Amino acid sequence: MVRETVLTPDDLILPVFVCPGRGMRKPVESMPGVAQMSVDNVVAEARDTWAAGVPAVILFGIPTKKDAQGSEAWNDDGEVQRAIREIKERVPGLAVITDVCMCEYTDHGHCGIIKDGDVDNDATLDLLAKEALSHARAGADMVAPSDMMDGRVMAIREILDENGFDQIPLMSYAVKYASGYYGPFREAAESTPQFGDRRSYQMDPANQREAVREAMLDVEEGADMVMVKPALTYLDVVARVRDATDLPLAAYCVSGEFAMLHHGAVAGAFDERAAVLEALGGIRRAGADMIITYHARAAASWLAETKE
Ligand code: PBG
Ligand code: ZN
Repeated sequence: MVRETVLTPDDLILPVFVCPGRGMRKPVESMPGVAQMSVDNVVAEARDTWAAGVPAVILFGIPTKKDAQGSEAWNDDGEVQRAIREIKERVPGLAVITDVCMCEYTDHGHCGIIKDGDVDNDATLDLLAKEALSHARAGADMVAPSDMMDGRVMAIREILDENGFDQIPLMSYAVKYASGYYGPFREAAESTPQFGDRRSYQMDPANQREAVREAMLDVEEGADMVMVKPALTYLDVVARVRDATDLPLAAYCVSGEFAMLHHGAVAGAFDERAAVLEALGGIRRAGADMIITYHARAAASWLAETKE
């Protein structure tokens, strides 16, 4: 009766990695239980996710070929685009969110195109817009740019509106830190930068006020929801952004945070179920409405058991 926050499967979003091929299921070594899957297996995963009570997935694509521009990102027959069409046909209730970024598609692994040895912010905007449009055309319910280029929310909003997709919401990875916790993801998405790092476009972990500024810029550009990432190491930031906007707020409990919880439990330090539900509950308590987590399905089934 007096509990202030609740965690339910409705709050959770499962990341899914789509790879080329058929019948493929390639485990991600640093993230036990997580795998790259070809479209057919993604559909099965989507069905199970929906059956577990989790309302949404966020798709990441691993393309057949990478180039300097990341041109597979806007291929209407790319892995992500085909996965969207198949999921929407076979599991229509499940919300399909797509990650919009270049790093999985570029041969250099950066989130934008390179000019003079660094990412060219403005030249990248058009490419992100083309990618988002291609996802919307395939039937995505929501697009989520994760690249951290300035101005991309407006660029994506404009191209979607011009093409009749004005009803498609935009979830912005507004506050994304240059974190050490993305390691396992880069194995999963095959998106490790081949030179340098992402500190020219991702945020300094030391900054909190800047997070509010970044979030509000995206709100002004037309974001329908904003995100803070990572989650567990940045709960103060989640709380601060919660106070700054009434828009729905997501937090991304990232790959390294998943690995930390999972391997801590495997090493016998704590019980995985207790630790995960407490961590996810903590993210809710800090103010997030939605949590992107690799534990989404496990957490949903633990929550269902708790209810019984
Ligand atoms: C990059 C991107 C990252 C993640 C999702 N998209 C981070 C990065 O490589 O810098 C991280 C997600 C995770 O660690 O779970 N666009
Ligand atoms: Zn990226």
